[in-house]
Amino acid sequence: MAANPPIVVIDNGSATLRAGYPSEPSPRVVMPSVVGAPRNKGVAMAAGMTEYEVGAAAVAKRGYLNVSAPVRAGVIQDWSDMERLWSHVMFQQLRISPESYCFVIGESMMNTDKHKEKTLETLMESFNAHSMYLGSTAVLSLYAYGLTTGVVVDSGLELTTVVPVHEGYPLARHMTTSTVAGEALTSHLSNLLQAKGYGFSTQSERELVNGVKENLCFIQTPTTASTAAQTTPTGFTLPDGQYIPLEEHRTACPEALFNFSVLGESYVPRCKVFADAGHDFVPSFSKGISWLTYAAINNCEASLRPALYSNIVLAGGTTLFPGVRDRLHGEVVQLFKEMHVGEGVLDIQVKTMDCRQYSAWLGGCMLSMIAMFKHLTVSRAEYEEYGPTIVHRKRL
Ligand SMILES: Nc1ncnc2c1ncn2[C@@H]1O[C@H](COP(=O)(O)OP(=O)(O)OP(=O)(O)O)[C@@H](O)[C@H]1O
Ligand SMILES: [Mg+2]
Repeated sequence: MAANPPIVVIDNGSATLRAGYPSEPSPRVVMPSVVGAPRNKGVAMAAGMTEYEVGAAAVAKRGYLNVSAPVRAGVIQDWSDMERLWSHVMFQQLRISPESYCFVIGESMMNTDKHKEKTLETLMESFNAHSMYLGSTAVLSLYAYGLTTGVVVDSGLELTTVVPVHEGYPLARHMTTSTVAGEALTSHLSNLLQAKGYGFSTQSERELVNGVKENLCFIQTPTTASTAAQTTPTGFTLPDGQYIPLEEHRTACPEALFNFSVLGESYVPRCKVFADAGHDFVPSFSKGISWLTYAAINNCEASLRPALYSNIVLAGGTTLFPGVRDRLHGEVVQLFKEMHVGEGVLDIQVKTMDCRQYSAWLGGCMLSMIAMFKHLTVSRAEYEEYGPTIVHRKRL
């Protein structure tokens, strides 16, 4: 067995699975995290179809498949389907022998200890992996920015999480979360269009709306209002040729990311922020992703806050709307001023990278290249000696 095995980095997103090698600039495999089983097994077998389809093939054939996502809100819920996805990645896509590879797996902050153990157990028992490192996607995303201390604002498919990280340790107790993320925004756009008389009920129509959200929507800021409105079309055409004009929808849809109450009061997070005098701080504007960020920083010890304010980083596909950075920065500064009346404003910076939908994957690659990485992994021998709970001891 090689002393330094080759490495594969996998980020099991709820929407997209990304996998590849640290020596390459982007993930080699980027596929929808879905598995499809034929509705009628007998007919499928007779027609020579495979028992399961995964990723893009499952999406393409969903007409006669039951398609489901094994990862929900960042947490693996269906282990059999997860194994099918991993098998596909290892044996069909990357064509590797897992027994000679070390796997860096990105995991959600919502994962329980049992999930961590099950991840290790599955890789060791079902795939006979050489070794494994399990890292929080929040911390890995921060590494992608070359930082070990900062606040990671990650908005993906079903969950937005804001995680303060200190010297590589995620401060889980101070994290803030909301279910306002990509899926909720797609539903919101669909509802806005329905109110205008356009119905989108089938899965493919919903995907169309999702594409409209990704390509035509933007966050209202002085800059985006002029550029986005001028450079992108103001409507889209349905497969049947019907043209649907977009009006205020382009900004009204992602606005919910900065004002959760648009989706209903139940979406407004309950996290509290106490002013220095001890009373509840209530901002003058609507609570959204900026509030989550401000509350997460404020939850941390005062001495830590300056380093966090100056290193707010964005991750996840739902932070890709044009204007997110500027709006978030402006609102966090505003929240700071409202809470610290008469004081100077700390250095507040929001950092972005173009490929932030796979920042966790990139961070996993960067971590795997540092000298101490091999001491952080769980080897097969350690797994066999201590069992799945060894995963809790082998972490940064
Ligand atoms: N350019 C874009 N603008 C706005 N939203 C986008 C864009 N590209 C992708 N998204 C949205 O991002 C969401 C997926 O985000 P992401 O890929 O970060 O999720 P994930 O990592 O697979 O899942 P998880 O939520 O578990 O982290 C989807 O709702 C998708 O529609
Ligand atoms: Mg993700």
